[in-house]
Amino acid sequence: MAFREYKIGSRLFGVALGGSMVITLYMPTVDMTSVAVTEMGLTKQLSYGRIGGFSYEDPFLRGDGKPKTVVLNKDPKTNEPIETVQAFVYEAGTPFPSGINHPRTLGPGATELSTAQGRIEEANHDNGAVFVISRATHNGETVNYIENASATRGWQPSQVLNAAGDANTHLIGSGKIMFVREGCWWCHTLLPEQTQDWQYFGIPPRLGDYNGESPTAFGSDRKAPDLLHVGSRNASKEWMMMHFFNPRLVQPHSIMPRYDYLWGENDADGKAIDYDAWRTAYNDYAHGKTVIPPDVPNYAADSEIRYLIDFIMSLK
Ligand code: HEC
Repeated sequence: MAFREYKIGSRLFGVALGGSMVITLYMPTVDMTSVAVTEMGLTKQLSYGRIGGFSYEDPFLRGDGKPKTVVLNKDPKTNEPIETVQAFVYEAGTPFPSGINHPRTLGPGATELSTAQGRIEEANHDNGAVFVISRATHNGETVNYIENASATRGWQPSQVLNAAGDANTHLIGSGKIMFVREGCWWCHTLLPEQTQDWQYFGIPPRLGDYNGESPTAFGSDRKAPDLLHVGSRNASKEWMMMHFFNPRLVQPHSIMPRYDYLWGENDADGKAIDYDAWRTAYNDYAHGKTVIPPDVPNYAADSEIRYLIDFIMSLK
């Protein structure tokens, strides 16, 4: 008797688990495959890499296992000048993003072109690969697709990184991990608001509507500017450095926390950063004892702040 109930229970559990897997894993792909991926969609997935959160490659969210985004002005094989192109370099072992693993999710046209012309199925995870975004006409429409430049142009990851040089290499994928790990999303969105439909959603709140409410629920107010296109309105790396080291250096009343610890222990010249001395000098400045704030250290090439700034400035 009891055994029969176990059998019913385990079947029901199987149905519930199966159903929820269909909803979470299968149904989103149906939705995705009905729309062709945009150029922004391709740029994002190719520069961010496979997963943007906890994963086997990066359990402690250090930005490991991510591709590098480079800007090329010359053909890395022939050294001939070419029209500037953005290339996404997956060194050996770097996991590929979903569009490469599941071309179907790229949507109408992009799937066919990426496979036939782009030869993405020839990309080899163990050797690494270099991808670029190309464009072609498919059924009368202009479609963006992924080109596996390792197959079509013979570009190898190390060749491309050498040709670009460190200054033209951007660690955008690792930076997105910093954005997630540091909780920037607590205050910032990556979704500019459109005019809301008041008829449907009701009127927006007024300032006084929050008097005395504690805590206000997550999402009930806007704490900070939207960042989806921040790289278009502010392209100054120097400003970003000052603002991340201590936002009050550039916005005296900012509520944004400082992220100076992302600089790590040493600066660009390998010298230890003396945070205590910096803060003492900054406090003197903030209290009007000196007129010039202390300089923000130049960050090391492998520092977490480099990742974050590369990510923020890629948001065009
Ligand atoms: C407590 C809320 C808060 C958090 C957390 C926060 N910010 Fe901000 N941020 C602000 C506010 C408020 C401003 C506008 C005032 C200013 O510039 O400091 C701002 C401004 C910015 C700007 C300039 C925006 C523009 O329109 O030019 C950038 C870039 C930025 N934040 C990035 C980040 C990143 C990256 C993180 C995470 C590492 C982060 N912020 C975390 C509140 C926050």
